[in-house]
Amino acid sequence: MNKKLFDMAFAAASNAYVPYSHFRVGAAVLFESSKIYTGCNVENSSFGLTLCAERNAISTAIASGEKGNIKAIAIASPNSKMCFPCGACLQWMSEFCSKDLDVILEGENQQPVTLKLSELLPYQFRKDRLI
Ligand code: THU
Repeated sequence: MNKKLFDMAFAAASNAYVPYSHFRVGAAVLFESSKIYTGCNVENSSFGLTLCAERNAISTAIASGEKGNIKAIAIASPNSKMCFPCGACLQWMSEFCSKDLDVILEGENQQPVTLKLSELLPYQFRKDRLI
């Protein structure tokens, strides 16, 4: 499954709209429902409005009616191995998982490497803190 998810993320990167950075990113999110949603980064001439691939994939899932939790997310870029998610995207992932989730990146020889969200963002701002 990790390789399939990684390959889907890599394929999604080909749709990236990146006229400014030319840095393509794709993401594929696996939910507990077993459904997979993909996204790519979408840039804007007002640079700060750029949407990252991971948040695009997650919002596509929510807009499609997904109600469950994320099990795993793969992130891929033809421009960089080990394309780590930015802090904003890590926080978005933490919103939609009850347990820890797998973050799959590209390691050596195009093989996926799996990290845990809790390694990348150990102190998460969780919604239960708002109550
Ligand atoms: N980018 C992502 O899509 N995901 C991240 O987690 C970090 C950065 C995109 C945003 C921008 O289009 C390009 O990479 C360069 O920053």
